Amino acid sequence: MDHKVRCGLASATLFAVLALATGNDANAAGDPKHGAQVFQACIACHSVKPGEHMTGPSLAGIWNRKAGTAEGFLRYSDALKRVDIVLNEATLDKWLANPEQFVPGTSMTFPGVRESKDREDVIAYLRAVSEGKASRAEPRRGGMMMQSGKVDLKRAPPAGQVVSISHCGDTYAVRTADGKTSKVWEFNLRLKTDSSKDGPQPGKPVIVGAGMQGDRASVVFAAPAEISSFIKQTCR
Ligand code: HEC
Repeated sequence: MDHKVRCGLASATLFAVLALATGNDANAAGDPKHGAQVFQACIACHSVKPGEHMTGPSLAGIWNRKAGTAEGFLRYSDALKRVDIVLNEATLDKWLANPEQFVPGTSMTFPGVRESKDREDVIAYLRAVSEGKASRAEPRRGGMMMQSGKVDLKRAPPAGQVVSISHCGDTYAVRTADGKTSKVWEFNLRLKTDSSKDGPQPGKPVIVGAGMQGDRASVVFAAPAEISSFIKQTCR
């Protein structure tokens, strides 16, 4: 056999093997179970519960839907609203590889998922969620005093129920229903509102954050109007 022919044969065989391998991969089409783990990188900003919008929109039913159109999400960037993309395997792969490059000006401040296998799997997970084939149960986010993320603030334990806040000098004193008072530097206390169904009862703000000693404590109110009336200016 002359050299040229042998080479040709060898590469033809190699090509067939490669084609077979790729074909098999395409049939496997991503592993939603592993994708649910990759999704841990997203849960700080996204829920897969329908209508639960956080920093980013709910990803409950995105499959084959136009990007930038989740009902009730009020914070899309102009860039994403304007762009004409239908969310599917191909577009999600580009989006998740590098959001800012795919949609310049997006407000999704996320560097992207580097490994293409991880992207394929998380996309398979999002598809399964959309098609009702994956559990919509939220991955655990940690205890309510530990973490950000959505928790039901109407069920806060006494240590989270704020009974009064006073401000003196540069310090807030936050008294909770367990009888304790925490003093927090004013620059370290975040005052937030949660008007969703998970938010606190009107007039019953809740403190969440790193044990309140840390620098990440937040007091969450039911509505903005409550904030200044709740906080008393006093040094007693
Ligand atoms: C730091 C917060 C943050 C993280 C982390 C994040 N996202 Fe986002 N995501 C956003 C925001 C904000 C938007 C809206 C972007 C805009 O309007 O430009 C968005 C939009 C999206 C959209 C478009 C949805 C629609 O309705 O058009 C998809 C899909 C998405 N994100 C998937 C993911 C996935 C999957 C991950 C994890 C691998 C992830 N995101 C991680 C904040 C985040």
